[in-house]
Amino acid sequence: MNMPTNIGPQFQEATKYVRGRPVPQAPGWVAPPPTYKEYEEYLDTVALPEPQTDDGPGLWDTIATRRSQRRFTGEPLSLRQLSQLLWAMQGVTGEIHDMELRAAPSAGALYPNETYAVVQTVQDLAEGIYHYDVRGHSLGMIAEGNFAEDLAQACLGQTWMQGAGVVFVWGAVVARCAWKYQNRAYRYLYLDAGHLGAHVQLAATALGLGACNVAAFFDDEVADLVGIDGTSEVAVYVTAVGRVGP
Ligand SMILES: Cc1cc2nc3c(=O)[nH]c(=O)nc-3n(C[C@H](O)[C@H](O)[C@H](O)COP(=O)(O)O)c2cc1C
Repeated sequence: MNMPTNIGPQFQEATKYVRGRPVPQAPGWVAPPPTYKEYEEYLDTVALPEPQTDDGPGLWDTIATRRSQRRFTGEPLSLRQLSQLLWAMQGVTGEIHDMELRAAPSAGALYPNETYAVVQTVQDLAEGIYHYDVRGHSLGMIAEGNFAEDLAQACLGQTWMQGAGVVFVWGAVVARCAWKYQNRAYRYLYLDAGHLGAHVQLAATALGLGACNVAAFFDDEVADLVGIDGTSEVAVYVTAVGRVGP
């Protein structure tokens, strides 16, 4: 199927807020979709170490030294590092009106993005694909095995990704955001994911690791890999994190 040539400008135009036109509202008569994705059963559940907030370099140093890194050594990450990366992107850091707020911002606090960690090499953790349970700060295994090559191939053959310790894939549950913002939600899913990618890359930098964000991928192949349908939940962004040499 060819991509319609003007779909971008059409989308931009159709989803604009324009003074004088009504702004879409959350429907008072329809309950919002659940904020948290629940699996009936995980293959395994792994508790993560408590996040640390009292050490590491300062923010300005971290920003100044952030660079996209693709030359990974292939050495394993520690479970503590993985925990810190997950917390820095989606960990619960606050509460308002009984609603949990997270490390990275989200339009309307709707948090449409689910995090999948494709574990390639992490100490004390079996290779596999895990879903991040935000509330439990834990990982639930959804597939066991090494998917490094499949994932790199799904990302247009970016083989450097195979040296990463973990690759995060974000899947956006469209209804969670479209319930309120309708078609404009498609802007917000990606903006939200951008924040997640930025947080995880800065966290990786602060941990002395390297990270590279990836948006060049075959959408359906990445969706398939993490077990989402690519329509109600779409793969929006990917970030590889690994150890880098001196
Ligand atoms: C939305 C987005 C998508 C990207 N996709 C890829 C990608 O698919 N492959 C890749 O190697 N780098 C990718 N990058 C990394 C950019 O190439 C990189 O950020 C840019 O070259 C600037 O370098 P710096 O991040 O080191 O400052 C992406 C970055 C962003 C923000």
